[in-house]
Amino acid sequence: MNLNPKFVSLLSAFLFFVTMSQAQEKKETTTFDLKRQLEYCALQASKTLEVIPDNGSSPRSIPTGSKEWKFVDYKDWTSGFWPGELWYLYEATGDKKWEKEADKFSRFLTPLSVSKAADHDLGFQVFNSFGNGYRLTKNAAYKEIILKTADTLATLFNPKVGTILSWPHNKYGGHNTIIDNMMNLELLFWASKNGGSKKLYEIALKHAETTMNNHFRPDYTSYHVLVYDYETGKKIKGITAQGYSDGSMWARGQAWAIYGFTMVYRETKDRKFLDFAHKLARVYLDQLTTEDLIPYWDFNAPGIPNEPRDASAAAIVSSALIELSSYTKEAILKKEYLSKAKKMIVSLSDQYQSHDFNSAFLLHSTGHKPAGSEIDCSINYADYYYLEALLRLQKLKK
Ligand code: GLY
Repeated sequence: MNLNPKFVSLLSAFLFFVTMSQAQEKKETTTFDLKRQLEYCALQASKTLEVIPDNGSSPRSIPTGSKEWKFVDYKDWTSGFWPGELWYLYEATGDKKWEKEADKFSRFLTPLSVSKAADHDLGFQVFNSFGNGYRLTKNAAYKEIILKTADTLATLFNPKVGTILSWPHNKYGGHNTIIDNMMNLELLFWASKNGGSKKLYEIALKHAETTMNNHFRPDYTSYHVLVYDYETGKKIKGITAQGYSDGSMWARGQAWAIYGFTMVYRETKDRKFLDFAHKLARVYLDQLTTEDLIPYWDFNAPGIPNEPRDASAAAIVSSALIELSSYTKEAILKKEYLSKAKKMIVSLSDQYQSHDFNSAFLLHSTGHKPAGSEIDCSINYADYYYLEALLRLQKLKK
């Protein structure tokens, strides 16, 4: 057989590339010790437990260069992440010590189920704490708290717009919905399937549809905040609060979107949400320019490469991609999601862990850069989704 030399050299280059990338992937997965990372998280959390004041508060963040946690009470939007981490550690180890602590810190959040809704964050707060708790223990008291909170969250739904009002305290000249709100729909879906009103399902579904139709630019990058007319439901404008500019891709916003729409597909089995989650993941992965796959806090931040990273966005996306890969039939795409999710987790484990700097799991997250707050620091939601991603990876291996 006479083969064209050009074809032969192209074929060899291709085979070389395939072999090298397979070898690289094998190296990443074989040298990565998942058990050791979980032990590391347990060790760090044990250190944190020793410094939490006995006043119902929980650890939120550690400023750059400091070793001291900033503590918050149950009303803070991040109050569910610490108890959520404790529940994940209980899941990872089966050690009753973690169950006891998780129960204690979850119960501090009980008033949220009987108070007026302050904002959309009730899902982050109550589902990450009591939701994980109920999943692991089937404690009926937790279920009651989750169901009551879902009804509370539903009071923020505006049927004229078709979304939940995310921030009642921020006016913006209309009904505002932030992309983060997608995450809190999981509480409503769960409640509707576990003894709550079927209306909660309809609200969550409508919120997801309205968001899908309005909250994204033509290239599938997300606005942070969408402002709608209260009465007509018409879209007024898309703006930012925590991103660089109204037109930029704020890394954690896109991360919430990828995770949120993947979860909505899981809950509804409606393919339009799966197709949409693929598009959101595509633009994030295509625009990710960092070697270690940990994004800058905003993909369009003007000072790149001298801008802070956001490890929390990477933790959220890695966890989401593991789930999205499980719904992906196309082999090449499935492989890409999994290998990139693993690479993000390996990067976080090798280069972003706190160790002796402080007792959080991770360094280098960015909370609210435009407000000058929580820049390049440790934050509890980065730790929560990092641990979740480790557990999802572990389930995958089993
Ligand atoms: N949900 C607020 C944030 O992502 O910072």
